[in-house]
Formats: sequence, C-alpha cells, structure tokens
Amino acid sequence: MAFPTETVYGLGVDAENETAVARMYEIKGRPSNHPVIVHISSKNLVSYWAREIPNYATELMNKFWPGPMTLLLKRTNKAKDFITGGQDVVGLRVPSNEIAQSLLKEFEAFGGHGVAAPSANRFGSVSPTTARDVQEELGEFLGTEDLIIDGGPCEVGVESTIIDCTGKLPRILRLGAITDAMINEVSPIDKDDNLSEIRVSGSLSRHYSPKAKVALDRAPSIGEGLIALAEIETPNGVVRLASPKSVEEYARTLYSALRSGDSQGFRVIVAVMPEGEGLAAAIRDRLFRASA
Ligand code: TXA
Ligand code: MG
Repeated sequence: MAFPTETVYGLGVDAENETAVARMYEIKGRPSNHPVIVHISSKNLVSYWAREIPNYATELMNKFWPGPMTLLLKRTNKAKDFITGGQDVVGLRVPSNEIAQSLLKEFEAFGGHGVAAPSANRFGSVSPTTARDVQEELGEFLGTEDLIIDGGPCEVGVESTIIDCTGKLPRILRLGAITDAMINEVSPIDKDDNLSEIRVSGSLSRHYSPKAKVALDRAPSIGEGLIALAEIETPNGVVRLASPKSVEEYARTLYSALRSGDSQGFRVIVAVMPEGEGLAAAIRDRLFRASA
C-alpha cells in the first residue's frame, strides 16, 4: 500500500512479512540487499526493533518525532536481514503525517509492529510527493489489491534526515528537514565521513534522477526548463518549472518540478541551487545526485 508521509510517499508493507517485503522490492525494482526504513507510530515500539539506544538518540526521538527523521540503531532479532540488508542496524522513523499515523496505529492495533516503506518510486528515480506521482511511477507494477492512499501533496517534499546512532555521537548520513543546527542542539555531531561502515543507497552518487539531464547553476538556454527561487527571472524562450518563494517551498516543489520537466519532454532542466545551510543544503544534495 502506498501512503503519504510528511516527506514523500512511501510504499509500505508489514516489516515482519518476508514475502511482502520481497514483493515490495520487486515493485520498486530495488536490489534486495538494500535496507528499508521501518515506520512506527511512536517511540514505544523502538525497543521492539532496536537495542543499546544511546542517550542522544532518545533525546533526538523526544525532540523530533513524530517528524522527518530516521534513526539507525543496533537491531534486535526482530529486525530480520530482509529489512536491514543483512546489516546489524535497523532504520526507524515515526512520521508525523496524520494519515501515516492512523495507518500505523491501526496496523499496530491488529498486531503489527512496523511498516517497512521505501519511497514509492522505481529505484534511482525521483521520489513521489503526490498520489498521482505514485500512480505514474508504480501503477503498472501494482495489482488490484494494492492501494494508493491520496493524502494530497507532501508538506516537506524531500526525504527524511538519516542519522546513524550506532556511535558515540550522531552522524548524518542523509540531509533533510531536521538540520545540523537542530541536531546540534541535542548533541555534537560526528563529522567524520569515513567512520561509518553503514551503506545507505540514498547516498549513491546517482539517485533521485529524472529522465532529463539536470544542469546546475548555469544560465538556461532556449528550450530548457528552469527551477529557481522566484527572485531569479526566466529568460525568454525558457520554461519555468518552479519559482518557489522560500527554501521550504523549494523543497516542497522540487520533485514535482523535475517530474513536470520530464512529462513535458525537456532534455535539459537547469536548477539554480538555493544558498545557505539546513534545508537548502538538503536540496543541493538532492540536486547534485539528480545531476550526476
Ligand atoms: O522520508 C523518508 O525517509 C521516506 C519516507 C517514505 O519515510 N523513505 C525513504 O526511504 O526515503 P528510501 O528507502 O527511499 O530511503 C531510505 C534510505 C535508503 O538509502 C536506505 O539505504 C537507508 O535509508 N536505510 C534504511 N534502513 C537502513 C538500515 N537499516 N541501515 C542503513 N541504511 C538504511
Ligand atoms: Mg528512495
């Protein structure tokens, strides 16, 4: 079942059902050794899935859950290889979206312990931020028993911040709306990129990519699409795909703008990257990967 979250739409299955997880991987076209995030309705279920939880991780949960943050923690024996990619680590997230919350609570009331859900797109492509995007991405691979819940456009628009909580200090593995500065209020951050042995597929250099070629920070030519903050003007002959007025709006509209560029058949989409830290850095990260 595909469902909305505050970040992007997810393709959810019972995190304890190996057959369901295998089918989800098939629908996504994702290699089976890639781990998937387990979504739970509250931190009450953390101890079911994870052990040796450091204090800073508990503080992060208290502060930023429900919300766009995924924590990687040492797993219990409930987190099987088929959701962890064989690693000793499980990814957990408590989404804030109301529909996601109701879905998880209902599932837990029926005896479930978590919903394994990657972004509801084909492997390597742009994450969906509307139900229609999910239909376009996965419709041909879904059966009549598969549901897509339409919760309208996602509020954040880029995937959750992923934080490795297996070390003495938190390490950020994927940037998102929970920013460095916010995490720093809880704990100093481990900035050493070489320390983590954990594989994160969202950190492959080519990921989040549309069919069009994405060019960064150059003047667009006639016939190209343009994504840039509203203050930047559209040259003649260039088609504006998004003109967000803020960094938040940039994040919210980025993926739908890339999709719209594809559906209009653009060969090149030029993106002018937002400046600054926090969410702007997360947007630049996705744009770098989209352009790789
Ligand atoms: O915002 C989000 O995180 C969305 C919504 C649906 O929750 N989900 C999402 O899932 O972006 P996905 O699978 O597209 O990206 C999750 C990333 C992947 O790169 C995966 O490798 C990493 O998280 N990940 C998940 N569980 C992990 C684990 N146990 N160990 C290491 N990396 C993990
Ligand atoms: Mg994804």
